Amino acid sequence: MKDHFHLAWFLSQGYGPKTWRSQWPGSSSDLKRWMMPDLFIDLARGLDRCCFDYMIIEDSSMVPYTYRGSHDTYLKYAASSPKLDPAVLVSYLAQATRTLGLVPTLSTSEYPPYLAARLINTLDHVTEGRIGWNCVTSSNDGAAENYGHDTQRPHDERYDVADEFAEIVTGLWEAWEPDAVVLDRESPVFADGSKVHPIDYEGKYFKCRGPLNAPRSPQGRVPICQAGGSPRGQAFASRWADTIITNALTVEGMKKFREDVRERAIGWGRDPDGIKVLFLACPIVDSTAEAARERRRLLAEEDGRHLDLNLSGLSRLTNIDFAKFDLDEPLPASLTTNGHQSSLANWIGKTPRALATGNSRQGIEFVGTPDGVAGRMQEIMQEVGGDGFLIFNTYFDRRYVMEICDGLVPELQRRGLVRKAYAHRHLRDNLLEF
Ligand SMILES: Cc1cc2nc3c(=O)[nH]c(=O)nc-3n(C[C@H](O)[C@H](O)[C@H](O)COP(=O)(O)O)c2cc1C
Repeated sequence: MKDHFHLAWFLSQGYGPKTWRSQWPGSSSDLKRWMMPDLFIDLARGLDRCCFDYMIIEDSSMVPYTYRGSHDTYLKYAASSPKLDPAVLVSYLAQATRTLGLVPTLSTSEYPPYLAARLINTLDHVTEGRIGWNCVTSSNDGAAENYGHDTQRPHDERYDVADEFAEIVTGLWEAWEPDAVVLDRESPVFADGSKVHPIDYEGKYFKCRGPLNAPRSPQGRVPICQAGGSPRGQAFASRWADTIITNALTVEGMKKFREDVRERAIGWGRDPDGIKVLFLACPIVDSTAEAARERRRLLAEEDGRHLDLNLSGLSRLTNIDFAKFDLDEPLPASLTTNGHQSSLANWIGKTPRALATGNSRQGIEFVGTPDGVAGRMQEIMQEVGGDGFLIFNTYFDRRYVMEICDGLVPELQRRGLVRKAYAHRHLRDNLLEF
């Protein structure tokens, strides 16, 4: 494998309240004014300092009500709701950082493609090339109902829609040739019309004339991030993604996923090294391994006290009301979903209680001292062959940011596993650096 691997951060549950139940909740203004960008700015500054490739901001577009047919549990815990618009947060984060890549989520099931292309292009202009796009298909029927539909389209068809969407968006991003803007004050010629092209797209789901009403942005084709895990999702991701994020439960699973994606990319005529596969990891680091294990135990205990919180999360991702299952009966193999199919596939055979207490859901554990966890990450990357990790923690607060940015990452840097300085200004170039 290559000497270095990549690091990114997953802002789980998006631009919403984060620390309000933590023992380290921040000041009272942090708590009440969760909608202000302060905590997220501190996070982004930490990641910029540690030279992370990017920070991705999760998003969804509804107050869910899948669990028990009611939104009460979600609102009680601020679980998946409220959430503010990630693209707005990005502009604040960009002001506060220098090089960190910023990746908002915009759903192909909700945006019209032209609007998405325009928003991302604008963000890439104002960040001078630091934007990525987390290109998702929405899965929860509650979101479909907010956009004029009764349910989401069938799972695989959502990716057919997304294919057309991505064709339009990337076409619009490249509709202005790189030298279309002339800026000749004498003639005058602001832009050369012969170098700006309509895309005249007509598909099954979308129609778009183009061109975009804005010039090519610094990265032109902005890096696309994707998390499709089902066979259809992987086919989509390996066609379009520059970085794929995924939750593999075992080292063998990680290796296989990465090999499959690379194989599929070759099938699309792509260089497999152009796709960086990052695996979710939720490290818990402390001064001693015992202290870290105790933290892990306390988190599981906390999960056990609020089973309804995690069951509501499982319900939201699958459109299946988990309240109907016996907590201690393994989920039957016959269960199907029109939601996150790859997630459900990982859960079959496990009990709702085990899933809700987190242990069987999160996959590989990274619990120990910074040195111990860094060593484990090193071993795993060597076995998998690359490309890196996507760090996240559902119990996210400033303390956690510090433990990663001032504890774990310096240890990874000391071992020569992650970068100590950015080599480039653009997200795409940093992704392709190694
Ligand atoms: C790390 C990670 C982040 C994700 N972020 C989002 C998100 O922000 N919004 C969203 O609607 N789906 C998100 N998803 C869901 C994926 O887009 C996808 O629907 C899911 O992985 C299931 O894929 P499949 O339908 O191909 O099985 C995320 C998935 C993963 C693993």
